[in-house]
Amino acid sequence: MSGMWGKNVRFSIFGESHGEAIGIVIDGLPSGIKLDLEEIKRELARRAPGNSELATPRKENDYFDILSGYFNNYTTGTPLCIIIKNNNTISKDYASHKSNMRPSHADFTGNIKYKGFNDYRGGGHFSGRITAPLVFAGAVAKQILSSFGISIGAHIYSIENVYDTPFNPCDIDNSLLSRLSTMEMPVINKDAAEKMKYAILAAKSQGDSVGGIVETSIIGLPAGIGDPFFNSIESCLSQLLFSVPAVKAVEFGAGFNISKIRGSEANDIPYIQNDTVRTRTNNNGGVLGGISNGMPIVFRCALKPTPSISIMQESVNIDTKENVNIEIKGRHDPCIVVRAVPVIEAAAAIGILDLMMVSRN
Ligand SMILES: Cc1cc2nc3c(=O)[nH]c(=O)nc-3n(C[C@H](O)[C@H](O)[C@H](O)COP(=O)(O)O)c2cc1C
Repeated sequence: MSGMWGKNVRFSIFGESHGEAIGIVIDGLPSGIKLDLEEIKRELARRAPGNSELATPRKENDYFDILSGYFNNYTTGTPLCIIIKNNNTISKDYASHKSNMRPSHADFTGNIKYKGFNDYRGGGHFSGRITAPLVFAGAVAKQILSSFGISIGAHIYSIENVYDTPFNPCDIDNSLLSRLSTMEMPVINKDAAEKMKYAILAAKSQGDSVGGIVETSIIGLPAGIGDPFFNSIESCLSQLLFSVPAVKAVEFGAGFNISKIRGSEANDIPYIQNDTVRTRTNNNGGVLGGISNGMPIVFRCALKPTPSISIMQESVNIDTKENVNIEIKGRHDPCIVVRAVPVIEAAAAIGILDLMMVSRN
């Protein structure tokens, strides 16, 4: 089933953007884990649109109700189920998308796959809103990983043509990742934030949207986690990262650029530091043969510009089989990248948690 993922810890995500509620069931968590619920709320607030003009005007508080699997402040070991109510829906704005397909959104593919029975309101199950429960699960995973000394953090690497300073892939510390997690525009170079905001607002003022890249790092992961082939760190994380709506490319380490350099430059030369094997460069993004080598895991995800833009566009009416011109209504993010940062961190945390549990068996 498409809504389920995981081998040792299993995640089942559900809900529609304008339905009663969205949520997730997490099965396979160890019992006796004390969760910091305030920290989970803080993670959800990072994804929520807030009052920023950079995000959708749809305001949802994203409060969660824990329905099962948590008792007297500890996980019970049985399925942990949470729901997040949808409170702020304006479904009439989406009536025309039942037939008139938004270019680059999932209206057409959803209609075909579910034979027209899909809940198209607000994008239904394809909405970015469904990433809220993912962030809940990621926050739980992060708390478990942090007890093993593993941290995950990300920054906005680029928006349109504006670039931040990249991570130093050999040397990323916890204080940088924590600082980024408190920023409205998480960037390493403060000057980039203003230029990125400008790019988003310029597109928005023209009824348009922009995309960008999120760079993520996982630090403290010991060498030896992951498997060759199908359960490699890269293949496991990529499946989760590509599940995040609007992610269209993922690259690890030097990524596509590794094809432009020679072996003598690409090879990460190992050396011993305090009895530990490190590498002088990290072009492989901390993964060799699908298995962590103890260096930071570094990867980048490219997100497309928000498909729902208010500029008039050509499209099709799926019922009358006619070409039409459409003007999209509803409330939309002029750029998905900013809100996607905690979502991508969450996807990575879920993947690493599952791999850690597999490796412990
Ligand atoms: C956090 C987040 C917010 C999003 N907000 C919007 C939005 O406001 N409007 C929109 O059209 N798409 C938005 N999307 C993207 C769509 O959900 C996505 O493009 C669509 O489901 C098609 O999937 P695909 O782009 O992965 O092919 C958002 C995605 C995420 C992760």
